[in-house]
Amino acid sequence: MPRGGLCDGHRIRELSTEVSSIMSTRLKNKVALVTGGASGIGEAICLRFAEEGAHVAVADLNPDAADRVVKKILEQEGEALGIKVNVCHQQEVQQMVKKALERLGRIDILVNSAGVSRILPFLETTEEIWDETLAVNLKGTFLCCQAVIPHLLKQGKGKIINLSSQSGKRGTSWYAAYCASKAGVIGLTQSLAMEFAPHRINFNAICPGIVFTSMWDKQLAQYGRKRGLTPEQAREYLISRIPLGRPAQPEEVANLALFLASDESDYMTGQALNLTGGQEMH
Ligand SMILES: NC(=O)c1ccc[n+]([C@@H]2O[C@H](COP(=O)([O-])OP(=O)(O)OC[C@H]3O[C@@H](n4cnc5c(N)ncnc54)[C@H](O)[C@@H]3O)[C@@H](O)[C@H]2O)c1
Repeated sequence: MPRGGLCDGHRIRELSTEVSSIMSTRLKNKVALVTGGASGIGEAICLRFAEEGAHVAVADLNPDAADRVVKKILEQEGEALGIKVNVCHQQEVQQMVKKALERLGRIDILVNSAGVSRILPFLETTEEIWDETLAVNLKGTFLCCQAVIPHLLKQGKGKIINLSSQSGKRGTSWYAAYCASKAGVIGLTQSLAMEFAPHRINFNAICPGIVFTSMWDKQLAQYGRKRGLTPEQAREYLISRIPLGRPAQPEEVANLALFLASDESDYMTGQALNLTGGQEMH
């Protein structure tokens, strides 16, 4: 080593390789099941978890899109499995868990990211829209938790991460069904955190603000209708209200999910964490 303790370039490269190999093992030997894993935030979570050594079950209503995510993970020499599921149906959820256990051996982490949303006036919210929103976002989360928890109990530890939203913290006009479903997810998360704390199963919710995934493809026009704006103007307007001045990237949500899935967050449970660029502070 040169005088003054400074390393040469070669040693620095060696060290950074060592550091990145340590850094990329935060979920080594863990198996994660991610619903809604084929798109947007769920996809970013699957890829980030796989980078950190997890074996990932990518569960989604859209099996082709799930297989595309699986392929990306396999290309990076990770391990992954695609599972078709509709999280609203108990039997399908049970089959999903069975398949993940058969093929990947265990489940340590569940991420409930499957979700739907619609922006429209309350008086136009049909019973069908209400039921679908509550069924995917809230009942789906309930069913997946109920199917996975018995396995976490047997293992004596586990992490469950539910995607709520800033809309779960604060009601917004034209968003009644979605806000109700996401507030429900926070209530469910807190209740399960209390019930299963003695069993070392941690439950936390993530409350993102604006993340321009495919969920916003139709929503920009819907939000534009609410404000009398074009979809592009609606996008600019939404961004202008974010204190940090930009939307979140799906990868930023994945980084928070990674922390919640890893041992680093063992002392955290029952939390609903904002990731909103400063828009929501409670
Ligand atoms: N994008 C945002 O701005 C934002 C903000 C706050 C919260 N969220 C929440 O984050 C989660 C992920 O959203 P996203 O932006 O990645 O959306 P997305 O539309 O990109 O992905 C949602 C995924 O869920 C799947 N899905 C829908 N219904 C399903 C069902 N019944 N069974 C199984 N899979 C189903 C879809 O096929 C899709 O792959 C959702 O719960 C959403 O409410 C998103």
